[in-house]
Amino acid sequence: MKTFIPTDLGPRATYALLTSCIAPRPIAWVSTCSPDECFNLAPFSFFNAGGANPPSVVFSVSNTRDGRAKDTLRNVQSTGEFVINIAPYALAEQMNWTSYEYEHGVSEFEKVGLTPIPSQFVRPPRVAESPIQMECKLFQIVSHGTGPVAANYIIGEVLCFHIAEHLLKDGALVDDRLVDFIGRLGESWYCRVTPESMFWLPRPGQGA
Ligand SMILES: Cc1cc2nc3c(=O)[nH]c(=O)nc-3n(C[C@H](O)[C@H](O)[C@H](O)COP(=O)(O)O)c2cc1C
Repeated sequence: MKTFIPTDLGPRATYALLTSCIAPRPIAWVSTCSPDECFNLAPFSFFNAGGANPPSVVFSVSNTRDGRAKDTLRNVQSTGEFVINIAPYALAEQMNWTSYEYEHGVSEFEKVGLTPIPSQFVRPPRVAESPIQMECKLFQIVSHGTGPVAANYIIGEVLCFHIAEHLLKDGALVDDRLVDFIGRLGESWYCRVTPESMFWLPRPGQGA
């Protein structure tokens, strides 16, 4: 085994190593509003769920390479609201383009040809093309570190889920075989979740 010490590597190489070790990662495609009502949309693969009572999610917006706060973080800090959209394989290209650094005030929705539709409980819009959308309110922001690529964990509560009918199994569950999920790995790698790449493994003692 070769051993790596992050402080020897520096932030850039550590980021590359970390993201190639912790993979695949789900992607939160996060829409937010700035206080002047401009819509923002960007992907974040430092993303997961943490509990279900209430439904709790977390994603991390790291500082930019020059140590600045990204728009998504600033918007959530000032409005306390966001929507997590899921991008299946068919939306991968558009999702990727929403990570481009457009000038402040430019809406990624317009730039990449996506349709913002009103949410029910929060001001940020949903991505109409996305088949899974979660309206969220901020619980807490926890910053870990300072400077370039330091983490800012945005912890939120899901207020409501919107799921495309054709993905539903027994009316209340998403059939993961139908979504065509994608996941983020290291470098520029992604994976695609197809029925052939899945396997079924019940937890011990929990039946079939
Ligand atoms: C698939 C993918 C995953 C990403 N994951 C993250 C992430 O977890 N955290 C982060 O800070 N940036 C991540 N980025 C980069 C941001 O999307 C990018 O910095 C974006 O411009 C931020 O937008 P904003 O300034 O409008 O918030 C990711 C980019 C892509 C394409």
